Amino acid sequence: MKARIVTLPGDGIGPEVTAAAVAVLEAVATRHGHAFAFDAQRLGGCAIDACGEPLPAATLAACADADAVLLGAVGGPRWSDPAARVRPEQGLLGLRAALGVYANLRPLRVHRALAAHSPLKDERVAGVDLVFVRELTGGAYFGRKQRDADSASDECRYSVAEIERVARVAFELARRRRGHLTSVDKANVLETSRLWRSTVTRLAADYPDVRVEHQLVDSMAMLLLTRPAHYDVIVTENLFGDILSDEAAALAGSLGLSPSASLGARRCGLYEPIHGSAPDIAGHGIANPLGAILSAALLLRHSLGLEREAVEVEAAVAQVLATGPRPRDLGGSADTATVCAAVCAALAAGTRAAAQCSDPVDSCCG
Ligand code: NAD
Ligand code: IPM
Ligand code: MN
Repeated sequence: MKARIVTLPGDGIGPEVTAAAVAVLEAVATRHGHAFAFDAQRLGGCAIDACGEPLPAATLAACADADAVLLGAVGGPRWSDPAARVRPEQGLLGLRAALGVYANLRPLRVHRALAAHSPLKDERVAGVDLVFVRELTGGAYFGRKQRDADSASDECRYSVAEIERVARVAFELARRRRGHLTSVDKANVLETSRLWRSTVTRLAADYPDVRVEHQLVDSMAMLLLTRPAHYDVIVTENLFGDILSDEAAALAGSLGLSPSASLGARRCGLYEPIHGSAPDIAGHGIANPLGAILSAALLLRHSLGLEREAVEVEAAVAQVLATGPRPRDLGGSADTATVCAAVCAALAAGTRAAAQCSDPVDSCCG
């Protein structure tokens, strides 16, 4: 098949991990006879440097016209002056809003080979296989912001329609997985959370095959550490999902391993690792590229409909996690290029590490 993929390498380690993900997609294309055309565009700090705006019109136009968008990371200390007129992160938020990608899927599995590397005991992380469905285009991220000399506010607003559409994605996903949905909120304090909870409760009637649990976000932060294997699909609002998914990523061994897919009504999705630009290691060629590579697998699955190819990439990653080489954040010493080459080699060898790799997240939007 032919596909046009816009890449947004961004800042810090973004270009390093994006190059690895593109190399893997190229290997997939060669292996299966696909023609992927890559179009690199600027987003974030590099775009501010080049043209004064974090989301240039040319970038937006290219993304709007693409089959899929693959993003590295944006931001860094260079653009973090609190008084700055524009920030790299505004570019990312603007892009998510413009593409209408309201459902951010963040799958998390603890690979057997990495259980010993988790900060939690082996027996606690054994069998962890969950997916966050994070609402991505609403809440405090997009509410009205105010600032004066001695106060500031960020409005958190949700409409029923915004909650319903993301909750339906989560219900559908739970239905195709283990039939268990956990909705996370702060309904004991926040009005938006009470609307969230009553909306999810009402929708549950349409999904009698899904067992729904509600959990307050503070205790959820604790439960992710004490019984992570209990969870299947976790749906929550934008800010809670941002925080809980970084916490959960650490359980699998490293933030560098976690991919994401941001989906909306259109087939064109936005795919990015959940980590940031990692300014502390940027430029050294040692970043873990596996989160970006697994995001490319999600791109193959959700935007291009290439399930077999997605499973092959996931199997190749599982194989590299099992046998090495490992990047530094996972206790090894391999650099980014070495890890990427190992994934490409495993792919070429057509490896299937079956139990670890089949279908972690089904297609579910659009
Ligand atoms: P971060 O995720 O960049 O880094 C947190 C820690 O994890 C650092 O020690 C880093 O070295 C490590 N780490 C992250 N990814 C890694 C990888 N692939 N391999 C090895 N180690 C990795 O978070 P931060 O330091 O809080 O944020 C830095 C910048 O990134 C900020 O400007 C923030 O806004 C931005 N950010 C961007 C995105 C994005 O573009 N999607 C996501 C998160 C943060
Ligand atoms: C993420 C990041 C972003 C977010 C920032 C960089 C705007 O932390 O993708 O998780 O908070 O959504
Ligand atoms: Mn985040």
